[in-house]
Amino acid sequence: MKTILVIGANGSMGKAAISGLSHHRVVTAGRSGNGVDHRVDITSEQSLRSLFTSVGTVDAVVNTVGSCEYAPFLEMTDQQWRTTIDSKLIGQMNIVRIGTEYVSDGGSFTLISGILSVKPIPMAIADATTSGAIETFAKCVAFELPRGLRVNVVNPTVLEESWPVYGEMMPGFQPVPGGLVGKAFQRSVDGFITGQVLTVDA
Ligand SMILES: NC(=O)c1ccc[n+]([C@@H]2O[C@H](COP(=O)([O-])OP(=O)(O)OC[C@H]3O[C@@H](n4cnc5c(N)ncnc54)[C@H](OP(=O)(O)O)[C@@H]3O)[C@@H](O)[C@H]2O)c1
Repeated sequence: MKTILVIGANGSMGKAAISGLSHHRVVTAGRSGNGVDHRVDITSEQSLRSLFTSVGTVDAVVNTVGSCEYAPFLEMTDQQWRTTIDSKLIGQMNIVRIGTEYVSDGGSFTLISGILSVKPIPMAIADATTSGAIETFAKCVAFELPRGLRVNVVNPTVLEESWPVYGEMMPGFQPVPGGLVGKAFQRSVDGFITGQVLTVDA
C-alpha cells in the first residue's frame, strides 16, 4: 500500500482518479477544504509548500486541478489566459518542482491535461493550449527528475459524470465512465512508466 496525495480530490476528475487508487492510503486536498483532508491553492507556491510540509513524505502525488477560462480566441483577455496558465500549467509544474522534495524514491507524479488538446472545440483554446503544454512538460522533465521519480499525464475525454455540464459544448464526443479514467491514474501510479501521456478516449 502506498500513500498518495490527491489534489483536487473533491472534483469530478479527482473522484475518477481516486476510483483507481482505493487500494492505497489516499490523502486528499482541494481549494475550499470541503470534504478533503487539506486545503491548498495550487496557484500559490507558498500554499503548495505548506501543503507538502503538513502532509510529509508520500509515494505519489496525483493532481487533477487545472482551472480553465472558456472564450473565443479573439475575445480571450490577457487575464483569462493568465488565470488558466497559472492553474493548469504553472500550478502543475510547481507541484512537481516543490513536491519532488516530498516524494519517496521511485515515487511518481500524475498530472491532468484533457482531450481538447488533440480534438479542438470552439471556446476551449486556453484549455487546449495548456493541456498540450503540460504534456510536453511531463515528457521532457521526466529526464530531469532525481531518485527514480516518475511523471505522467492523464489525458481523458469528457467524463460521463461531467456530460450534463460539458455535453452541449462537445457535440459528437463520446463520454467515458470515471472508473475507466481511474484505471489510467492507477497505471501511472502503480506502473513503471514515465514521461508518458495516458490518453483515455472512446
Ligand atoms: N470533467 C471532465 O470531464 C474532464 C475531462 C478531461 C479533462 N478534465 C480536466 O480535469 C481538470 C479538473 O476538472 P473537473 O471536471 O474535475 O473540475 P471540477 O469538478 O470543477 O473540480 C475541480 C477541483 O479542483 C479544485 N481546485 C480548483 N482550483 C484549485 C486551486 N487553485 N487549488 C487547489 N484546488 C483547486 C476544486 O476545489 P474546490 O471545489 O474546493 O474549489 C475542485 O475540487 C480540468 O483541468 C479539466 O480540464 C476534465
